[in-house]
Amino acid sequence: MVKNIDWGNLGFGYMKTDYRYVSCYKNGKWDEGQLVKDENVVINESACVLQYAQTCFEGLKAYKTKENKVVCFRPDMNAKRMIESAKRLEMPTFSEERFLDAIKKVVNANFDWVPPYGSGASLYIRPYMFGSDAIMGVKPATEYQFRIFVSPVGPYFKGGVKPITLMIPDFDRAAPRGTGHVKAGLNYAMSLHAIVNAHNHGYNENLYLDSRTRTKIEETGSANIIFVTKNNEVVTPKSDTILPSITRRSLMYVAEHYLGLKATEREIYLEELQDYKECALCGTAAVLSPVGKISDHGKDILFPSGMEKPGEITQKLYDTLRSIQMCEIDAPEGWIFEVN
Ligand code: PLP
Ligand code: COI
Repeated sequence: MVKNIDWGNLGFGYMKTDYRYVSCYKNGKWDEGQLVKDENVVINESACVLQYAQTCFEGLKAYKTKENKVVCFRPDMNAKRMIESAKRLEMPTFSEERFLDAIKKVVNANFDWVPPYGSGASLYIRPYMFGSDAIMGVKPATEYQFRIFVSPVGPYFKGGVKPITLMIPDFDRAAPRGTGHVKAGLNYAMSLHAIVNAHNHGYNENLYLDSRTRTKIEETGSANIIFVTKNNEVVTPKSDTILPSITRRSLMYVAEHYLGLKATEREIYLEELQDYKECALCGTAAVLSPVGKISDHGKDILFPSGMEKPGEITQKLYDTLRSIQMCEIDAPEGWIFEVN
């Protein structure tokens, strides 16, 4: 029985569901994994994750289609990215095959928590891994847990598709040759001060610049960014210190192959922003959130699409991506993963 939840009014928050998946790594190998009911994790006080933040995670969503099928969007890409994150943090990798199998198990076990088709909500899936045994010197753990929990969610930014505002912070997100390109928990820990600061100043998010020159656009703390030029070209920053967003890579494909637009990944300078007509954040949680204003130390960049609704191209990209995700229109091969 589908849970009795006010799906249409869900925000992006944690809700305890029935089952979570756990696999433990010890003596050089992963155990076979299991579903458990207890949402609490008990680990040693000196676990590497607690002392030295040895943890990485992923985020993806499950959707219910009109035919009552449950599908995920490109989970193989999350599996691959998590392998890259684990390698960068000296953690063991969890194979793509096992990752996909675990997703199937945990989503099916929580089937009643998948929001109904048309509700606007989805089931957020959070795979994560951490060093769990006691260490003292700075070195990788020898034992790990790979876990997945799920939670029904609504829009990441309050107000749904209403345009949001960004500020250019005085803080940096990622150093050259650092960990910006992987989904390490530490990237998010160091962004907390900056996000509180942005909220205190009345902005929804921070738009980070490259830390080497502070002239180029990178991404926000929780999503990549795209812009639309006056000629309807979709452009997005090229940088090796941003997270390679699966949503962004998919949207660039959609722009080119579904909407017939030019889609370009290149370096984008802060001083170019006033030339663009639309801007939006993209990510699993953010989906495609229109941006109305970017504030750079008192200088406001106001996009012509305004503060009331998404721009025309942003809306088309959003509608097409959502229709692909909900299986309403044909998806490129391999993009839809059936769970049940
Ligand atoms: N950038 C950051 C920093 C993120 O946390 C996320 C979320 O996963 C993204 C971008 C978007 O990535 P994806 O589209 O793969 O969810
Ligand atoms: C996601 O979009 O899945 C994210 O991980 C972003 C944020 C909630 C950290």
